[in-house]
Amino acid sequence: MLVKIEQAIDILNHDGVVGMPTETVYGLAARANSAQGIQSIYTLKGRPAENPLIVHVATKETFFGMLPGIPPHTEQLIHTYWPGPLTVVVPVYEEAILPQVRANLPTCAFRAPAHPTAVELIRHVGPLVAPSANRSGRPSSTLCSHIEEDFGASFPVVEGQPPHQGVESTIIIFHEDRWFLGRLGAIPADAIETVLGYPLIERKSNRTLCPGQHFRHYAPKTRLFLTPTPSQPIIVGFSDRCYPSTSRLFSLGHSQQPTEVARNLYDVLRQLDAEGIAMADVDVDIPHTGLWRTILERLNRAAS
Ligand code: TXA
Ligand code: MG
Repeated sequence: MLVKIEQAIDILNHDGVVGMPTETVYGLAARANSAQGIQSIYTLKGRPAENPLIVHVATKETFFGMLPGIPPHTEQLIHTYWPGPLTVVVPVYEEAILPQVRANLPTCAFRAPAHPTAVELIRHVGPLVAPSANRSGRPSSTLCSHIEEDFGASFPVVEGQPPHQGVESTIIIFHEDRWFLGRLGAIPADAIETVLGYPLIERKSNRTLCPGQHFRHYAPKTRLFLTPTPSQPIIVGFSDRCYPSTSRLFSLGHSQQPTEVARNLYDVLRQLDAEGIAMADVDVDIPHTGLWRTILERLNRAAS
């Protein structure tokens, strides 16, 4: 159910949770200093307590104020990408952030969203925690109707433009003097590597560094088969390509437009589920670089 921003501010100030558009995907927002709001988020999502949340801030000063030290390249990175879909995980003053937000880790994830509705909410009520607005294991929500599917038609969602990126923020993690890749996302990893001047290595096997990578993710009920030559009766593919005439196409968009494909991705996965489709081929004859790399990673997870 759409609510006005004033009503959303009131809900947040009373320790509640609201659906909030960001430029990446919808978030489930609560005040970062509300133990009750945070507990509700974990319960609503069915999220394991060991999977920490991202703190969303409106200014870099708020962020810097919580850090005992500023890791190298941080200022350059946030100068380049904030406000926007870059999440940085850094050591924090433990008293600055509730342990429930950090899953008791000595680090915390931060980002400054670019969406005007998110910024306005933060300016009114302070920093917000906001995981993606989906039940754990479901694709993230990119339309208000996706939130209603997962949390019911009466769940409050703040009015505002739906997310335009369609995939989550890129997460980088500072650890032992360098940055690592925590999650591919809306900002291509190669662009961040250019700022850093060294490659972003993934450390997925490290549970403490990348807790979120150890839970099932982005999974529709439909069984997906990734192939460069799709041939099943149901195909997830591109609007500008020819497929067997007997097959039905769920279009991700144009094969030369990765931003359009990223924006449509989760909606297509949810449509397959909504129609109860048992299996589909996914056309993965796409590049492995830039935003396509993120899209491919999400498709791989959805298929696994
Ligand atoms: O685009 C986004 O980032 C969206 C929008 C709503 O802002 N939010 C989002 O949040 O995707 P969520 O909770 O779905 O994903 C956050 C990820 C999780 O994989 C979590 O494990 C990781 O961030 N994370 C959070 N704190 C961390 C920490 N201290 N160390 C390592 N990873 C952390
Ligand atoms: Mg999520």
